[in-house]
Amino acid sequence: AAAAGGCPLSHQAAEFDPFGSDYQLDPAEALRWSRAQEPVFYSPKLDYWVISRYDDIKAVFRDNITFSPSIALEKITPVSQEAQDVLLGYDYAMNRTLVNEDEPQHTERRRVLMEHFAPENLERHKPMIRRLTRDALDRIIDQGEADLVDEMLWEIPLTVALHFLGVPEEDMGKLREYSIAHTVNTWGRPSKEEQIEVAHAVGNFWQYAGKVLEKMRATPDGPGWMRYAIRQQANYPEVVTDSYLHSMMMAIIVAAHETTAHASANMFRRLLERRELWEELCRKPQLIPNAAEECLRHTGSVVAWRRITTRPVTIGDVELPKGARLLMVTASGNHDERHFENPDELDLYRDNTVDHLTFGYGSHQCMGKNIARMEMRIFLEEFTRRLPHMELVPDQQFTYLPNTSFRGPDHLRVRWDPSCNPERLSE
Ligand code: HEM
Repeated sequence: AAAAGGCPLSHQAAEFDPFGSDYQLDPAEALRWSRAQEPVFYSPKLDYWVISRYDDIKAVFRDNITFSPSIALEKITPVSQEAQDVLLGYDYAMNRTLVNEDEPQHTERRRVLMEHFAPENLERHKPMIRRLTRDALDRIIDQGEADLVDEMLWEIPLTVALHFLGVPEEDMGKLREYSIAHTVNTWGRPSKEEQIEVAHAVGNFWQYAGKVLEKMRATPDGPGWMRYAIRQQANYPEVVTDSYLHSMMMAIIVAAHETTAHASANMFRRLLERRELWEELCRKPQLIPNAAEECLRHTGSVVAWRRITTRPVTIGDVELPKGARLLMVTASGNHDERHFENPDELDLYRDNTVDHLTFGYGSHQCMGKNIARMEMRIFLEEFTRRLPHMELVPDQQFTYLPNTSFRGPDHLRVRWDPSCNPERLSE
């Protein structure tokens, strides 16, 4: 068989299925063969070119003119006419935000909206994150058992995200449902029936985002990044457009909370699976920042990201045509031994862990990375201090929402003996 570029197609490339269980459970492991033998290959099941090595992924991120991000939020599974009609019924018109915007518009917009992410502004959210974490811990600490995802790892990042954006903290349950629908709509493979259901949820999300935006326009001097963007629209109407504001209102709620929720769940799982590392962290809290970063590298919450070629180009020795869709499996790059020594090991002392690709790289690199880091560190600070004896409930099966890009367990069950809680022992 010949791929779109005329390259011979290996058996593994032909069989690669990003919705299959291997990739869903461990995308880096599922692409070990590719990193070794065929680092750029055409996947007929996906109709994308898959890129699995660290250096190649970084080179693609670095050149956002040749490799346009315009498809970053495109539906990876083509939807039925029926589902498209449902979306139209909600006037759904999701378009460019930042993450899928080309130059020069992207850089102009990012520059105009950047100020709100200044360290002093992020720092202001710290006391709230700590209070939310302590309150959540207070609620569970005498229980001896909890599902961390349901009890707090979903809710806290959502609350923080809404606070940062200035979105009222009503409707949080609805937003969880909407966010999942958005992920399935963008990166999933819903069946025909599911597509209809998802289209309704996404359509409602779109309308909801529009309403929140209208409310904010009535109080533009209030708090949050989205109101800051509304104020900037008055100064730069061509840069901060109506379409941007509406599309971003919807996309950012997901980008800011689901990513962080999954990253935190992955982090607790990985650290607790390696008891000696967890205990070391409890003894040496100064390792927490690097531990959080290493978990983002080892088991990131975004595992793959997309670009499309704007001209014929060669990666490694593979020629790609113009218009080739690329799936960069960043989780695979993060396990590339050419860049990270013993990449499958979780190493609290790894000195280049911050080179990981989980936040992307280059001019589109995640703007919210320091908020996510702050949350993950505070979670670890509070848990290592108050529940050092916490452990994973053994033999639990982790399940994931099937999709190419967002990854975190649906549930994470932990347990501990409350009579051994340090705060009881010191009473
Ligand atoms: C972009 C991951 C949290 C806001 C991105 C990109 C990735 C990513 C992979 C695309 C980068 C690229 O194309 O090079 C993550 C992960 C997070 C996280 C793994 C949590 C662990 C957040 C938070 C916020 C945020 C908390 C906001 C409060 C953004 C924005 C962009 C972005 C605005 C677009 C930047 C641009 O295109 O210029 N993120 N993100 N993210 N992220 Fe995050």
